[in-house]
Amino acid sequence: MEVSANTPAVVTGGASGLGAATARALAAKGAKVAIFDMNEEKGEAMAAEIGGIFCKVNVTSDEDVDAGFAKAREAHGQERILVNCAGIGNAIKTASRDKQSGEIKHFPISAFDFVIQVNLIGTFRCIAKSAAGMMTLDPLSTDGDRGAIVNTASVAAEDGQMGQAAYSASKGGVVGMTLPIARDLMREGIRVNTILPGIFETPLMNAAPPQVKEALAASVPFPKRLGEPTEYAKLAMCMIETGYFNGEDVRLDGAIRMAPR
Ligand SMILES: NC(=O)c1ccc[n+]([C@@H]2O[C@H](COP(=O)([O-])OP(=O)(O)OC[C@H]3O[C@@H](n4cnc5c(N)ncnc54)[C@H](O)[C@@H]3O)[C@@H](O)[C@H]2O)c1
Repeated sequence: MEVSANTPAVVTGGASGLGAATARALAAKGAKVAIFDMNEEKGEAMAAEIGGIFCKVNVTSDEDVDAGFAKAREAHGQERILVNCAGIGNAIKTASRDKQSGEIKHFPISAFDFVIQVNLIGTFRCIAKSAAGMMTLDPLSTDGDRGAIVNTASVAAEDGQMGQAAYSASKGGVVGMTLPIARDLMREGIRVNTILPGIFETPLMNAAPPQVKEALAASVPFPKRLGEPTEYAKLAMCMIETGYFNGEDVRLDGAIRMAPR
């Protein structure tokens, strides 16, 4: 599906990092982009920069997501593209012993649940509601292409580090559901693919001290640097625009395989 002028698109987490880079790449091709994000200030600024609209959406809320799609569709028409980048992480061991006091604690279940709610169920919520909308569209090509969806997992879906039980479970869930969702939507001409990023230079990573970033960059086999958000956006655009790309989970990671810690 060629992204052409006025193609309506929704990018969750589009106010920052990988989502912002993808929103820019879509807008550069003339797409009308709606940014779904909780960060109002950054979301409004991004929407103004790319001539799109901002919808204040928490992907864990059914009401927010419904209202976001209603606002986006009212402004731009039914989206043919959904890119899911909204996500969070935490770092807590499953069970741990304090070195000084000897106190034993376990991963608070509410903290585990929160990461699953945002990264896994939030992603599925947006996919299901967007796909139902895309099914009302006329097919674009002789293939019957109606729309394309790109999700964001992480290399932690495959090689999660210490403390990443919740994050890896959430991202593993996104990887695991990609193929069955593509199969669910195959008769409707809606393709679904997922990117597993390695370590990318986003606001999240920019907060780390320079020596931490240097050590992370050195751990990448080649090229020895963090990924650029524009490189994520390029792969997302490739997945959207290549009609035969479907049901696939792709690592984008400079060949990194994460160590236990
Ligand atoms: N940066 C990396 O190295 C890296 C690596 C692997 C995977 N990822 C994944 O890529 C995605 C984007 O990460 P990023 O690095 O661009 O992070 P980021 O923090 O720069 O951007 C994430 C955006 O998601 C928004 N968001 C968070 N929770 C939300 C919610 N409940 N509802 C709506 N919006 C919400 C935030 O406000 C933010 O604007 C995440 O899913 C992350 O897990 C990032």
